[in-house]
Amino acid sequence: MAIRGSVYDLTAYLPEHPSRPDLIQPWCGTDATQAYNTKSKGRPHSSYADELLAKYRIGAVELAIP
Ligand code: HEM
Repeated sequence: MAIRGSVYDLTAYLPEHPSRPDLIQPWCGTDATQAYNTKSKGRPHSSYADELLAKYRIGAVELAIP
């Protein structure tokens, strides 16, 4: 998923995530910035979550200019 301009492969992390899987799975393959920023309930993830996230970075989002 894409978050804040970077792309993450979270395959290995998803089974470890503390919420119900159905909260996070629909964001796979999409830009999940807003979902990550709010946990889909208006509260941000911790700085610990940000550190974890960095480990799964595989690239950057490139915008196609028509
Ligand atoms: C993008 C969709 C995501 C959604 C909707 C989401 C939602 C949630 C929810 C509902 C919780 C549990 C309740 C709570 O702590 O308030 C949670 C906790 C947590 N999530 Fe996520 N999450 C997402 C992605 C991620 C990613 C990509 C990571 C890290 C690689 C991550 C790491 C964590 C951690 C470490 C916690 C424990 C609490 C904290 O440290 O903030 N989450 N998330």
